[in-house]
Amino acid sequence: MRIGVLGSGLMGGKLGTILARAGHELVFSYARSERKLARLARDAKADARPGTPREAAERADAILLAVHWSRVDDVLGRAGDLSGKVIVTCTLPMNDDDSDLVVAHVSSGAEELARKVPEARIVAAFNTVPSEVLFDVYEARRKARRPSLLYYGDDRRAKNVAAELVRAVGFDPVDAGPLRVARHAEPSALLVARLAYEGKGGPELAYRIERFGK
Ligand SMILES: NC(=O)c1ccc[n+]([C@@H]2O[C@H](COP(=O)([O-])OP(=O)(O)OC[C@H]3O[C@@H](n4cnc5c(N)ncnc54)[C@H](OP(=O)(O)O)[C@@H]3O)[C@@H](O)[C@H]2O)c1
Repeated sequence: MRIGVLGSGLMGGKLGTILARAGHELVFSYARSERKLARLARDAKADARPGTPREAAERADAILLAVHWSRVDDVLGRAGDLSGKVIVTCTLPMNDDDSDLVVAHVSSGAEELARKVPEARIVAAFNTVPSEVLFDVYEARRKARRPSLLYYGDDRRAKNVAAELVRAVGFDPVDAGPLRVARHAEPSALLVARLAYEGKGGPELAYRIERFGK
């Protein structure tokens, strides 16, 4: 796939590097310096190049949205026409100091995003995982037991794209249902992040989701 990364920070930089190494064609865009984008593309050692958000979006089969919530409108505006585009969002609707969600309970960041770009096909994935584990998951991708990762959305084509990308990174994709599942997934992602970032002194966290019946 041709993948355009909008937001080349911790998530976009790592996911983009992994997806390029997995054989996809990458454009890294949207960082505060063009040199950083060029460095990411060079360090990926794969089919990756730096570009503007418009260049990242225009030929993309999938757009990876990985910016802070406060930058979403800006980067979408720079990306141009997103009609029919698949947007895989890992963006959480955080406030400016990243202490809390600004959208929750009766809506979610994923649903708000779908309202901002109604002409695009939105699916949420990767937002429930700390970026720190991504390279380890990718390195272990051929092991028998792969960690699961949720994705959710209302558009079948976008969900198929997300499942393929989730698999390429080394997770087993789990279809968690429609986009409104984000109302539950986004707050739980915040909980996981809080525990993960408490560092060595923090609690060890294990969580497991089981399905009962059908
Ligand atoms: N990090 C995680 O583990 C994690 C986990 C789950 C979900 N998420 C979500 O994923 C999204 C991205 O998170 P992140 O940790 O990757 O954030 P980040 O490291 O801050 O990356 C955001 C990107 O936006 C760029 N940017 C910010 N302001 C800009 C501006 N004015 N002009 C141009 N570029 C600008 C940054 O540029 P620079 O590179 O130059 O700083 C960076 O490349 C967020 O919504 C977050 O909630 C993150």
